[in-house]
Amino acid sequence: MSQAPTAPVLQITGLRKTVPGGRMLFDGLALQLQPGEIVAIMGESGAGKSSLLNLVAGLDLPDAGAIAVRGQDLAKLDDDARTTLRRDHIGFVFQAFHILPHLSLVQNVALPLVLAGQGGAPALARAQAMLQEVSLGGRGADYAAQLSGGELQRIAIARALVHQPALILADEPTGNLDPETAARILELFVRTVRKSAVAALIVTHSERAAAVADRVLVLTARGLLAHHGA
Ligand SMILES: Nc1ncnc2c1ncn2[C@@H]1O[C@H](COP(=O)(O)OP(=O)(O)O)[C@@H](O)[C@H]1O
Ligand SMILES: [Mg+2]
Repeated sequence: MSQAPTAPVLQITGLRKTVPGGRMLFDGLALQLQPGEIVAIMGESGAGKSSLLNLVAGLDLPDAGAIAVRGQDLAKLDDDARTTLRRDHIGFVFQAFHILPHLSLVQNVALPLVLAGQGGAPALARAQAMLQEVSLGGRGADYAAQLSGGELQRIAIARALVHQPALILADEPTGNLDPETAARILELFVRTVRKSAVAALIVTHSERAAAVADRVLVLTARGLLAHHGA
């Protein structure tokens, strides 16, 4: 008996997006991500990288084309189902960390579990284990104001992975950090992502960051093209 092929975590076909005012960001964009695959996306400022991530997250709708996450076509889901898919199967890491200041760090990391209805002691234990993964196991009771930028981004990474999503979306996750810290955080990010067998789409301007990915693509008006180094 032949085994069924593994379904792609993300399948994008024929994607077109224009911004209000009419400028076309991209057309005919296609991308397929397999479980555990890490793809870096580069491209000029204003090329539409953040817009692309918003489309993949189901936060915005394309003008044409289709996006399927774990085989589910986003356009065929209603708002509630899209929200559930995002909550259960997608993790985010943003440039501006978005760590909530009034929750302790372990509570911040546990948040995706709480939102998925899995609160309580097991959620805090899982969040604590994730804090250890990013070498901040001793800081769970602290608050965001007590941490450096690099530490905050490690918290954000732990939070993005805590609910074991199938897909991680990261929008310039180390853009606010100095180059040395950024490189260390990116390495930690990729190591943690690989360990979790999560597929990841990472937008970055850093060649060094991109070098740790399985594939590097450049976003252009014609879609995603192979990147051939600096
Ligand atoms: N809501 C919006 N209304 C009008 N223009 C937008 C909107 N969102 C993005 N844009 C425009 O779309 C282009 C792509 O933006 P963005 O996706 O943020 O690019 P990138 O992340 O690659 O820098 C930019 O020119 C931006 O001004
Ligand atoms: Mg952007």
